[in-house]
Amino acid sequence: MKRTLTVAAAVVIILALAIPLINLLVPVPVPDQFHSIPTSSSLMAQVKEIFGAKCAMCHMENPGVPFYARLPVASTLIERDVRAGTAMWNAAELLRKGGRDPVALGKLEQSVELGTMPIFQYLLLHWNARLTPQERAAVLAWVQEVRTQSLFRGLAAGQWATFPVQPLPPRWVEPLDERKVELGRRLYHDKRLSTDDTISCASCHELTKGGTDQRRFSLGVRNQEGDINAPTVFNAVFNIAQFWDGRAKDLADQAGGPPLNPVEMASSWPEILGKLGKDAELTALYREVYGVEAWEPLKIQDAIAEFEKTLVTPDSPVDRYLKGDTTALTEQEARGLRLFKEHSCATCHTGESMGGQSFEKPHDPAAFFAALGRAPGKPDYGRFNVTSNEADRFKMKVPNLRNLALTFPYLHDGSQTNLKDVVRLMHDHFVPPLNRRPMSDADAEAIAAMLLKNTGTLDGKPL
Ligand code: HEC
Ligand code: HEC
Ligand code: HEC
Repeated sequence: MKRTLTVAAAVVIILALAIPLINLLVPVPVPDQFHSIPTSSSLMAQVKEIFGAKCAMCHMENPGVPFYARLPVASTLIERDVRAGTAMWNAAELLRKGGRDPVALGKLEQSVELGTMPIFQYLLLHWNARLTPQERAAVLAWVQEVRTQSLFRGLAAGQWATFPVQPLPPRWVEPLDERKVELGRRLYHDKRLSTDDTISCASCHELTKGGTDQRRFSLGVRNQEGDINAPTVFNAVFNIAQFWDGRAKDLADQAGGPPLNPVEMASSWPEILGKLGKDAELTALYREVYGVEAWEPLKIQDAIAEFEKTLVTPDSPVDRYLKGDTTALTEQEARGLRLFKEHSCATCHTGESMGGQSFEKPHDPAAFFAALGRAPGKPDYGRFNVTSNEADRFKMKVPNLRNLALTFPYLHDGSQTNLKDVVRLMHDHFVPPLNRRPMSDADAEAIAAMLLKNTGTLDGKPL
């Protein structure tokens, strides 16, 4: 009996050692479609090699799998890691985009800086899979290279030049048509877009209230209440798509929604076009811009979008600090800014508007809604409501974190009024467990203090 046990133990040990030993000699297979991704710099080519050898097997669709991944039990565990890994971060996709995905790039930087990848279970079987210091440096240098080349870079002072959060530019990049902006401004404030002439866009997105209504749920015509918090229109032009679930592809597309929404403006285009057509002065301005007399929905939406592109709010104290004015933030707020990156917040809340670049869900949605004290319903399904893809359930467009002192209450359900509580919720439910670091109360307070100082200016005037 004892002898059988010893033999069994020996077999287990030999098998357990055999796999990592073979792994040292036989590289993990990487599929051709990964190798054929083009690279645009020598640094990128180096990074592709590293990803191919050490990351791709868990971070791309249909990766090649090593021989032991076909063994029972192992195959289930490995498949789970591959699915979980690829859902969170896709190495092949990031390379195909030449690195131009600020969120995926930030997540890469964070995981490599914290040394959490590859995962521990994998390192047990792959003794040489850890990134060498040279490889680590190459990956981080590539992240910086891509950032330096991206659209709005160049405003931040030296040490902040490649920080994931950047100052807002003074205005949107495209040249804007002044007359069209003026027409859009008038339409944005025009209550005739609602059925009973009581509600304009500005009713729910007031320019004096950070581009929101500061209510949990907005009130539409006849005092009807919505079921999701109104995000700000400020800096919305930076978003990859509009609405929490991204159902509108851009601002013009978005502007067609509220006028017809039964709980918002509850009107119809014939009704709106009829009312505006009777306004000779506005119609004259319209003709000046579009060269035609007849009002059209798409042109109304286009003009409103043009106006919204002017709603960029630069020069917050955080921006001024990033641009080199070290007196713009207190010591605590400046610490909050550094902690914002250290605690992985800047992965999702990245770029100049600090958000709006991806759709994300809590790590464990059930735990998140338990923390909010309620069961989720349809408005909480987010991106799933658009794609019907199960992986998108509970994914929300990441809100931008500017002018938060004015855009309360917070979260898509408007359930939070205390920013420090939100910082804690984010840390506990959105920062991925592997990268989560203990966050002291002082840390949460410093981050909240920094965010409350992130209020900018509109047309040169403080908000
Ligand atoms: C054996 C599988 C495996 C390997 C190999 C692996 N990862 Fe991962 N990776 C995972 C899993 C699983 C997760 C999800 C972790 C979690 O749920 O917190 C993940 C998550 C990530 C994330 C997302 C972090 C975030 O903030 O959302 C990044 C980035 C990442 N990995 C990068 C890498 C890089 C770079 C390498 C190669 C150096 C690598 N991984 C190797 C399995 C792997
Ligand atoms: C009755 C209140 C109400 C009115 C009126 C209203 N909105 Fe909104 N707005 C909302 C709510 C609520 C949302 C979020 C809805 C969602 O995501 O499903 C929203 C979302 C948006 C967004 C998306 C922002 C982002 O970050 O995704 C923009 C832009 C916007 N509205 C602009 C407008 C414009 C332009 C008008 C006028 C044509 C308008 N809104 C009228 C309440 C309103
Ligand atoms: C994985 C992506 C991700 C990470 C990491 C992340 N967030 Fe968020 N953040 C989101 C999403 C998505 C929402 C919207 C969630 C909702 O409304 O249910 C959000 C909402 C917020 C809000 C509310 C904004 C508003 O206007 O309602 C704040 C504040 C915030 N995050 C701060 C932080 C801080 C601080 C950290 C780091 C501790 C952090 N986030 C980490 C994705 C992320």
